[in-house]
Amino acid sequence: MAVHVVDHPLVRHKLGILRKDSTSTSEFRSVSNEIARLLIYEATKGFSTEKHTVQGWAGPVEVEAISGKMVTIVPILRAGLGLMDGVLDMIPGAKISVVGLYRNEETLEPVEYYAKLARNIESRLAIILDPMLATGGSLIATIDILKKRGCRHICSLNLVCAPEGIARVQAKHPDVEIYTAAVDSHLNEHGYIIPGLGDAGDRIFGTK
Ligand code: URA
Repeated sequence: MAVHVVDHPLVRHKLGILRKDSTSTSEFRSVSNEIARLLIYEATKGFSTEKHTVQGWAGPVEVEAISGKMVTIVPILRAGLGLMDGVLDMIPGAKISVVGLYRNEETLEPVEYYAKLARNIESRLAIILDPMLATGGSLIATIDILKKRGCRHICSLNLVCAPEGIARVQAKHPDVEIYTAAVDSHLNEHGYIIPGLGDAGDRIFGTK
C-alpha cells in the first residue's frame, strides 16, 4: 500500500483553516470539499485516456476522454458525506455507494448497519471517503465489505491520517492506496488524531 501525501501549498493552506478551532461549520464544510477536489485530482492521475476527433471551432481537433474507468465513490456515514460534493464536482458521473458502520461497545470493532453499493462494483474503482483515518477500523471494515462483493480496485481519500491507522490498514489491505492531506503525530487515548481536526463529523454537520 502506498500513502500519497498531497503536498501542495493550496492543500497546506486549506488544512490550516480546518485545524483552526474557530472555523465555522459552513467554512469547514466548503474547505473540506475544496481539499477533496485536490485529493481526487491526485488520485485520478493514473486514469487512461483515449484520443478521438471532435469538430472544433476551426475544424476537426483531436481531444482526449477518460476511458475504461467506472468509478463509485463510497462515503462512510456520516462524516464521509462531507467530502462527497468535492469529488462529484470532478467526477460527476460516479455512482455513489454508501456504507454505514457503528461501533460495538464491547469489542470496539465497527459493525455494518447499512451498505447500498453501486451495481457492477466488481468492475469499478471504489474511492472510499472518510475525513479522518484514525484507528483504521472503519476503513478496514469498508474495504472488507467492498472486497466481499467482488470489488478489486480500491483507494481511500482522507483529509488527515494517524500513523497507527495507516499501519493497521497497510497490514490488512496492502493493495489499497491512500490519498491524504497530512499524516499527523498520533492518536490520543480516546482515538482522536493529534493535532487533527477534532470530531470531523460534528464539525461538518454543525453538531459540535
Ligand atoms: N474521528 C474524528 O472525527 N476525529 C478524529 O480525530 C478521529 C476520528
